[in-house]
Amino acid sequence: MTVKLKDKEFVPFISAESIDQRLKILGAQISKDFKNDNPILLGVLNGSFMFLSDLAKYIDIPSEFTFVKLSSYSGENSTGKVKSLIGLDSDLKGRKVIVVEDIVDSGLSMSHLLEILQTKEPLDISIVSLLFKPEALKFPVEIDYVGFEIANKFVVGYGLDYDGLGRNLPSIYQLK
Ligand code: HPA
Ligand code: MG
Repeated sequence: MTVKLKDKEFVPFISAESIDQRLKILGAQISKDFKNDNPILLGVLNGSFMFLSDLAKYIDIPSEFTFVKLSSYSGENSTGKVKSLIGLDSDLKGRKVIVVEDIVDSGLSMSHLLEILQTKEPLDISIVSLLFKPEALKFPVEIDYVGFEIANKFVVGYGLDYDGLGRNLPSIYQLK
């Protein structure tokens, strides 16, 4: 069934069942890799809210959760728009941090975020992203855990939005 959001139509792309199956595997992998590490999972709002809450249920080691947001815009530098980090209320010093994102597209947001997080002196930073568009990547970032590699087409649902809409869809849709 297609979904219409404002002026655009979207078609089913990744089912809720496929997402759930993949999250089970990612959760098990993370639990194994971070056994005894007491990692802190850092969700990047708004897009990661559904992914992180479902992934968290498949992580069965002691772990903490915190959330941040990147401001849409706070200035410019040589790479374009610079974002600033909002809402970090946890001490990351000496901690194993796992950044949880809905999507890595150009890599610009993620590379900014990593730069900011490094200043908090974590022990190390890993990245888990539900979606990854390798063809769109302009700022090289290494993603440790990828849910799905997808083509460079616009998607919505399961936390991802089109102009603020579609985040509540339980599965992922692609632009028709
Ligand atoms: N959909 C929604 N948000 C996004 C996307 C996308 O395909 N790429 C980067 N942010
Ligand atoms: Mg996002």
